[in-house]
Amino acid sequence: MTESHTPSPPAPLAQAGAARPGVDAGAAATEPGLLAGRRILLGVTGGIAAYKSCELIRLLRAEGARVQAVMTRAAREFIGPATLQALTGSPVFDDLWDPRVADGMAHIALSRDADAIVVAPATADFLGKIANGLCDDLLSTLVLARRNAQCPLLLAPAMNVEMWAQPAVQRNVAQLRADGALLLGPACGEQACGESGAGRMLEPAAILEEIIAAFQPKLLQGRRVLVTAGPTYEAIDPVRGITNRSSGKMGYAVARAAREAGAAVTLVSGPTGLAAPHGVRRIDVLSAEEMRAAVLDAAGDADVFVAVAAVADWRPESAAPRKLKKAAGAPPALALVANPDILAGVARLAEPPLCVGFAAETEDMIDHARAKLQAKRLAMVIANAAQDAIGADDSALTIVDEAGIRALPRAPKLEQARRIVAAIAERLAQTAA
Ligand code: C5P
Repeated sequence: MTESHTPSPPAPLAQAGAARPGVDAGAAATEPGLLAGRRILLGVTGGIAAYKSCELIRLLRAEGARVQAVMTRAAREFIGPATLQALTGSPVFDDLWDPRVADGMAHIALSRDADAIVVAPATADFLGKIANGLCDDLLSTLVLARRNAQCPLLLAPAMNVEMWAQPAVQRNVAQLRADGALLLGPACGEQACGESGAGRMLEPAAILEEIIAAFQPKLLQGRRVLVTAGPTYEAIDPVRGITNRSSGKMGYAVARAAREAGAAVTLVSGPTGLAAPHGVRRIDVLSAEEMRAAVLDAAGDADVFVAVAAVADWRPESAAPRKLKKAAGAPPALALVANPDILAGVARLAEPPLCVGFAAETEDMIDHARAKLQAKRLAMVIANAAQDAIGADDSALTIVDEAGIRALPRAPKLEQARRIVAAIAERLAQTAA
């Protein structure tokens, strides 16, 4: 069998992941992180995408996870164990018969010491082995030895487009899904071999989002959620316009939290600088009219509509086709007309989804939120103080519904979004009862 590549025998698994100040490749998180306290076993198999596992480790550790790397022999053809050891801050295992493990059962010790097993990249060979319960090395054996209910298995396939399309591979993938494994990707695009198509490993940032999501309760499984986010932009002429201050962070967090909870999510977004959460369908719009059209298109199918966008209340009556010149004299008069209220429009549909509004106010927050709840016929309104929510990474919110008010103390927006998703799930359960 393979020889051990780490010279000095450490206590088995004991100090895995212990961060050593100054020598942990800069990955230690300064804040608790979205994976604080989680133990991730990262399996690396033999594909060229193995070099991306290094970046994945960095991202996982930056979110506070402890990472234990296990490689197959073929993976060592692509990256060295020293790289993984340096990045994880922990010895790497690759041998079923590793003499460092006191009782000689590395597969049991490693799988019991993990909150999730992530194999990235997962080759066609590895998928085939796991789908058929075969285990002839440490990684496949510890996957088979895991306790399914406590330790989810996430697989990020990576292979050539023709290999991925093979019926044999697709059969194995279908079997793995049926057995409860989570398949992450693969993505489509350029491949290392020069060909192009499905089979690329998902990017590390997307894999990270999937791992974080795997730890969230599936409160909205099977639900379709529509979210608006960001500002709208109402053109005055080709270079000028009216807009609202909105970073889009809260709406994007709601879309991400709904996806984490298992929903199929459509995000209708005004102009923001944000990347769409992984797995969310994003439709980009500019004006309120465009946002309304996109929302009405998707609303019929939605179970839930969360309107987070800061829609401009007014727009110029007509946009000038050419840039208005700054001639001497009075500035041009701007005739404004009211924009449609998108949320109120959806709530008035014959069979509306559960409608949730946001209210950013500068004063009398709760009174305004209550008034909106009634005027727009909503299930709930999330109130926040405009002056400290806009553009910030965290916020203090209050959920206002017909039952009363519930304060959500200041927290990062993703955490607040998860609380909102939980409140929505509760409400859906009551409606169904
Ligand atoms: O602008 P207002 O304070 O009324 O916004 C309250 C809620 O209504 C928010 O959820 C916002 O996204 C939504 N809204 C909308 N269309 C508008 C104005 C607001 O959907 N034209």
